[in-house]
Parts: sequence; C-alpha cells; structure tokens
Amino acid sequence: MQAILMTAVGEPAVLLARELPDPHPGPGEILVRATAIPVLYPEIALREGIFPMAAELPAIFGFQAAGSVAEIGADVDPALLGSRVVAATAGSGAYAEKVCVPVESATVIPAGLSTEKAAAVLMGGSVATALLRRAALTGTETILVQAAATGVGGYLTQLAKEFGAKHIIATAGGDKTARARALGADEVVDHRDPHWTRRLRDILGDNTIDVVFEAIGGPAAADLLDLMTPLRGRMLGYGSLSGVPAPITATDLLARGLTYTGCAGPAWLEQVAATRAEVLNRAADGGIEALIDRTLPLDRAAQAHRLVQDRQTTGTIILRPNPTAA
Ligand SMILES: NC(=O)c1ccc[n+]([C@@H]2O[C@H](COP(=O)([O-])OP(=O)(O)OC[C@H]3O[C@@H](n4cnc5c(N)ncnc54)[C@H](OP(=O)(O)O)[C@@H]3O)[C@@H](O)[C@H]2O)c1
Repeated sequence: MQAILMTAVGEPAVLLARELPDPHPGPGEILVRATAIPVLYPEIALREGIFPMAAELPAIFGFQAAGSVAEIGADVDPALLGSRVVAATAGSGAYAEKVCVPVESATVIPAGLSTEKAAAVLMGGSVATALLRRAALTGTETILVQAAATGVGGYLTQLAKEFGAKHIIATAGGDKTARARALGADEVVDHRDPHWTRRLRDILGDNTIDVVFEAIGGPAAADLLDLMTPLRGRMLGYGSLSGVPAPITATDLLARGLTYTGCAGPAWLEQVAATRAEVLNRAADGGIEALIDRTLPLDRAAQAHRLVQDRQTTGTIILRPNPTAA
C-alpha cells in the first residue's frame, strides 16, 4: 500500500512516500481503507520532535484517517464491514491507504456527512466541544478565542454562543480576521500585530474577559491576565502555537483571583474522544461547518506540512491516497 513514512525528527522532508506491506486487523481491530486523511496541527509538533513519536522510527506517520471498513478481526461485529468511519490511531499509522485500529477508536460517519468533511471536523470539533463544556459558560459572559479562523479556534467560534457565550472576541492573522468574523466572532483582533493585546484592551473598554481559550502561549498570554474578570475569569490552555505554553504562575493567578485549567494529557483526551459521535452528528445536521482548506494527494504530505507550518491554510488539508484510482 501507499504510505508516508517518518524517517527522522525534523523538517517536512522527513515524511517520505513509500510502498509498504498491507496491515492486517488483529482481534478487536478493523482495517479502514482511507480516502481522507486530515493533516492536524499537533502532528506538526510531533514531526518537529516537540513530543515523542508513539512508535520507533521509521514509522508510518499520522493520527487520524477516514474511509470505509474493509476487513475486520476476530470479535468485531461483521455489520461494520463497509461502514464509513473516522479512525483515531494511537499516535502513528494514519497517513496510509490502509490503517488498522481497535474498533472502539473508530467513529461511524452519519449519512449526510461526506467522508472528507468528517475527517476535517473530527479533531477540531471535538476539542472545541470539550473546551466549551469545561468552560461552563453562563449566558452572560465575554470570551476570547485565539487563532479563530481555522482549527479548534474556528469551531470554538462557531459553537460558543450555543454553549452560552454572550460576546465573542477572536484573534486571527492578517486576512484571516474576516474569516473569524464570518464564523461568528463579534470582534476580531489581528494577532500578527505585536501590540494586539493593547488593541484588545481598547475594544474591551470597561468590560473584561470571562474566559480565554488559550492556544498561542508565549508572553502575550500573561498580558491577558489583567484584562480578565477578577474572581470569575478562567483561562483554558490547550495549545502553544508560539512554541511555548503560557508562562503563568500560581502567583499571577492568586493575586487576581483567576483560574488556569490545563486541557491536555490522557484524561483530557478521553473527554475529547467522548464527544466525537456528537460532533459528527452535529456536522451532518448542519450545526457545524467543516473547515477544509484543500485536498492533496497523499504523496504530497510534506508539502501539506509546509503549508500548515507557514500559516498558509484556512482550514484542514485533507490527504487522499491514490486520487486517480478513486
Ligand atoms: N490540547 C488538545 O486537545 C489539542 C488538540 C488539538 C490541537 N491542539 C493545539 O492547539 C493549537 C491549535 O491547533 P489547531 O488544530 O487549532 O491549529 P490550526 O488552526 O490548524 O492551525 C493553526 C492556526 O493558528 C495560527 N497560528 C499559527 N502559528 C501561530 C502563532 N505563532 N501565533 C498565533 N497564531 C498562530 C494560524 O492562523 P493565523 O494565520 O490566523 O495566525 C494557523 O492557521 C496547536 O498548538 C495544537 O497543537 C491541542
């Protein structure tokens, strides 16, 4: 089968297209013939060596793949054969024509939702849903969504009012500010402006931010603390797009009566996984717009990674194995 092998940690060129033997499903596993493989931001960090590869290198790269169940192992319900699913791997194996996962790691795609859209929406939509549940918004609160034109931020912006936000302020880069507004933000600040937190202060006037969905990290995160509502303000940290997480200390929070919640790690990812079916159903019903940038052939995975890390995308890139045969 066609697959993308990660040969070492480093630049996108470490992702090499290869012909490899087909995998076979073991007991409790399904084999998915993939037609849509999403390129996910955390995979960029994995390739760069910021967090460890689940398998020893070289290994087939990738977290998720969507397609049809083509084979099943022992103890799997045969009714699943032919179903369309999004499969989540344990951290490697998804950038391939065929991928085997435990059956419980697959989410069935509802009728009415294309396989491409399901692949695009699954991670961002489910992380956003878990974050909004954790935020427990009251219906009267002002929120700040960072990097709101794409990915998790784009889905937070789409869903926040339904989950109880009153006022959405978003950040995005350059031309992407218009897109954040189209997704539902009331106000948008360009985070490529080095003084964007000052601009945010101007927008707020006497108001304060009740909840920050923090994806950028770095020094700007600390600047936000003085703009948050004392005693009620909460920052939910889930990413570090700037390269480092928010450098916030207990002292910073104590003095202002604020809360910081880390939204990462195994227990968090279980909460995210629990929302997957709900997210696909919501996307099928039109309640979430899947954000797709473009579709590329699987063997252009390295190019896709370059586009994402250069911030050239306005949604998820979908990789497609053997596009001429499909
Ligand atoms: N904890 C979790 O469960 C979880 C799950 C998924 C992702 N994440 C993390 O959340 C973050 C966002 O992921 P995503 O999937 O939502 O990403 P994404 O939207 O696919 O792509 C990142 C976007 O963020 C913006 N960006 C990139 N570098 C930036 C920087 N240095 N400063 C500010 N903005 C930057 C870019 O938009 P502009 O061009 O508008 O700047 C880019 O379009 C990443 O750190 C990712 O690893 C965490």
